Amino acid sequence: MFKRICGLEDLWEGDMETFEVNGRSVLLVYPEGDTLYAVQGMCPHQQIPLDEGTLEGSTLTCRAHLWKFDVTTGKGINPEKCRLTVFPLRIEGQEVLVDTDGIEEIREGF
Ligand code: FES
Repeated sequence: MFKRICGLEDLWEGDMETFEVNGRSVLLVYPEGDTLYAVQGMCPHQQIPLDEGTLEGSTLTCRAHLWKFDVTTGKGINPEKCRLTVFPLRIEGQEVLVDTDGIEEIREGF
């Protein structure tokens, strides 16, 4: 079931922020010139908060060991075999909604 996590005006382009949804950490990411994406909030490698990393375009880099992910697909860039869970996201008017039901975060790199 989709749940509201914030308003559209709460996040600027180029920004990212973590929200708690159904007891899960969900990272909302807004790459410049793109749209919003919702991915797991903790790095699958060693559970470091991904909002402490950096966002360049759609590439999110974890601060701890510099793993890189494409937030539009969740695919690992380096290493290629890693991956992030991407949660379904819907924008209704000015509201941002995310569905986490039955979707597990990835907790190991491979
Ligand atoms: Fe994120 Fe190691 S904890 S790359």
